[in-house]
Amino acid sequence: MAKPILISGIQPSGKLHLGNYLGALKHFVELQNSGKYRCFFFIADLHSLTEPYTPKEKVAQITDLMRSFLAAGLSPIKSVLFMQSAIPAHSELAWILNTLTPMGELRRMTQFKEKSGVSAESASVGLFDYPVLMAADVLLYDAGVVPVGDDQDQHLELTRTLARKFNARFGKTFVEPKSLHTAVPRLMSLDDPTKKMSKSRPAGCLFLDDSPAEIRTKLGRATTDSGKEVKYDEKHKPGISNLLLIHSSLSGASVSALEKRYARKGYADFKRNVAEVVVKALTPYQAKKKKVSLSSAKSAFTKGDKAAGAIAEKKTVEVKKKVGLL
Ligand code: AMP
Ligand code: TRP
Repeated sequence: MAKPILISGIQPSGKLHLGNYLGALKHFVELQNSGKYRCFFFIADLHSLTEPYTPKEKVAQITDLMRSFLAAGLSPIKSVLFMQSAIPAHSELAWILNTLTPMGELRRMTQFKEKSGVSAESASVGLFDYPVLMAADVLLYDAGVVPVGDDQDQHLELTRTLARKFNARFGKTFVEPKSLHTAVPRLMSLDDPTKKMSKSRPAGCLFLDDSPAEIRTKLGRATTDSGKEVKYDEKHKPGISNLLLIHSSLSGASVSALEKRYARKGYADFKRNVAEVVVKALTPYQAKKKKVSLSSAKSAFTKGDKAAGAIAEKKTVEVKKKVGLL
């Protein structure tokens, strides 16, 4: 039997943080190495144009993310690694799906509401249309599995709706995909554990390129809760619970084992230990990233662009025929 197809993307729009790592990138590597899936991972550079940027920044963000993919352990041999904008089929299918998407569905999207803020009328059409391009990314490859953080669930719901709608109208063409979460589908901010870790709140982020000293300082300052006990309790101890999840997913120890281990120790000791676990996990990544040359990253992506492009092109021909384009 053919392996199930898996796809996910990350935007090149600023530095990767630990939420991206524990909710997505680290999981990508595990899924790739499990051998259970046919994996596609891409850089969602077109999506990233929906936020403010300069061309110079954009080039730097894209090349940095290419190197991060490889440093984290994604492999051009085990997976197809590609650049979204290298494959015109993504934009083309997005256009066709646009014609099936009610504006009302897009207006309800939490991410659009958050990113457009109070000025939805001046937000770009690209920001509004972001979920439709994401649907095209997934549907082009017949992917059934999409590993993402839980902030992307609503977009995948729309992807399924569009697949169903297209199939009902034009005949079976697309697979309805499901999202796949890690144990940390939503890492919270260090400075305010009731908000998700996000680059829009840099003060609460641990960035993957932070130095050991920065990591120690940030974790030392992380907001904790009243009380003294190191115990998982999302409601009453969101700060400590978040740190327990960080420790657990990087060290491999279970949350209950950690609760026991730190039962008689205070928050300060625990936080120091979490910092050491993070430093230990990120050091090899950072060392590898220094060694990944831009030319090796570029050749990994060029190879993937060709492989993904051929699949996407074939699907686009099928879609065009189905809708009646010559
Ligand atoms: P982005 O940089 O927005 O393209 O996000 C890349 C991936 O990281 C997506 O799968 C997101 O769902 C995931 N992600 C972003 N922030 C977090 C977070 N705080 N916790 C878990 N996953 C996250
Ligand atoms: N929207 C995703 C994010 O912000 C990135 C993304 C774009 C994506 N296209 C995708 C993720 C397709 C999974 C599948 O995190």
